Amino acid sequence: MSLYRNTVWFLKGLREYTKSGYEAAAKHFVAEDLEVDVTGKHYMITGANSGIGKAVATIIAKKGGSVHLVCRNHERAEEAKKEIIDGTGNQNVWVHLLDMSNPKQIWEFAEKFKTENKLNVLINNAGCMVNKRELTDDGLEKNFATNTLGTYILTKAMLPALEKEEDARVVNVSSGGMLVQKLNVSDLQCENGTFDGTMVYAQNKRQQVILTELWAKAHPKVHFSVMHPGWADTPAVRSSMPDFYEKMKNRLRTEDQGADTVVWLAISPAATQQPSGLFFQDRKPVSTHLPLASTRSSPADEEELLRNLEELSQKFAPATGTP
Ligand SMILES: NC(=O)c1ccc[n+]([C@@H]2O[C@H](COP(=O)([O-])OP(=O)(O)OC[C@H]3O[C@@H](n4cnc5c(N)ncnc54)[C@H](OP(=O)(O)O)[C@@H]3O)[C@@H](O)[C@H]2O)c1
Repeated sequence: MSLYRNTVWFLKGLREYTKSGYEAAAKHFVAEDLEVDVTGKHYMITGANSGIGKAVATIIAKKGGSVHLVCRNHERAEEAKKEIIDGTGNQNVWVHLLDMSNPKQIWEFAEKFKTENKLNVLINNAGCMVNKRELTDDGLEKNFATNTLGTYILTKAMLPALEKEEDARVVNVSSGGMLVQKLNVSDLQCENGTFDGTMVYAQNKRQQVILTELWAKAHPKVHFSVMHPGWADTPAVRSSMPDFYEKMKNRLRTEDQGADTVVWLAISPAATQQPSGLFFQDRKPVSTHLPLASTRSSPADEEELLRNLEELSQKFAPATGTP
C-alpha cells in the first residue's frame, strides 16, 4: 500500500509541485487578490530566517505589515531582518528568538509577546526533517517536537490574542508529503519500529492538517488554513533530502513561488471567503487524501491526538496556568 501511495504521490508531484506546476496554476491566479495594504497588522512567522518563511516575511513587509520573525538562531535572524528592512524599506521588522522544539520556551515566549504586541496572523512555517531519531533536552523526538507539538503550543498560546482581532488567521505550512500518511496516534514519538525521517516528517505534516481541521471547528472567530508550498529550492530540501534535491534541482520552485499561497492565505480577502480548516495548494483548496488511499482517520483517533498533545503541552506550561 505504501508503495502505491508513494508512487501516486510522486507522479502527482512531478505534475503539480514543480516550477512548471506552479506556472500552470499561476495562469489562473487573480492578481488583485494580493493588492492589499496591510499596514498596522501584525504577522508572526516562525522559521522566518530562510526559505519560504523569509520570502513570506519579505512579501508581507513590502505590503506594509509589521512582521515578527520567530527564529532560533540570533545571527541568521538578524541577517534576515536586515535583508528584509533593506529590501522593503519597512522598519517594522522584529526578531524573537525561540526554539520551536522547546515547549517551555514557547509558552514563555507567547505569554511575553501577548503583553507587548497584538497579533493578526500566525504563520506556523518552521519545520524540520531530522533523519535519525534524536531527542530534545526534554526527551521529545525532534521532528515531532518541532513540527507538531511546537505548532500546537504556539497556536494554542496565541489564540486568545488572535481572537481579539478582526479577520484573524492562522496559516499552517504543511506538506503534500502528508498525503502518503494516515494519522497514527499510537506512537507519536516514534519509539517503536524502524525510524524513517521522511515518513516521520510526513506523519507530522498529516497531524498539522488534522489539527487545522479541529481548530477550525473549535475556534470560529479565527480563520484557519493549512497548505502545501510545492517543491521549492530551500536550505531544508538541500540538506534533508540530498538525493531528491540532486534529481529535482532544475525543476524546483523558487522560494517566492513556494511562499505565494502562504501569503495569499495570510493577507487576501479571497482566502477568507473559503471555509476555515481547508488544505490549499496554489491558492485552491485541494483534497487531503490521494485517490483510493485509505488515509482517512477516525474521529476517535483525531480526538486522541488532541488529548495527547494537550496533556503533553500542559507538562511544560507555566505554573500560573494557561488557557
Ligand atoms: N521547500 C519545500 O519544498 C517544502 C515542501 C513542503 C513543505 N515545506 C515546509 O515549508 C516550511 C519551510 O521550510 P523551507 O523549505 O523554507 O526550509 P528552510 O529554509 O530550511 O526553513 C525552515 C525554517 O524552519 C526553522 N526551524 C527549524 N527547526 C526549528 C526550531 N526548532 N525552532 C525554530 N525554527 C526552526 C529553520 O531555522 P534554521 O535556519 O535555524 O534551521 C528555518 O528558518 C517547513 O515547514 C517545511 O516543512 C517545504
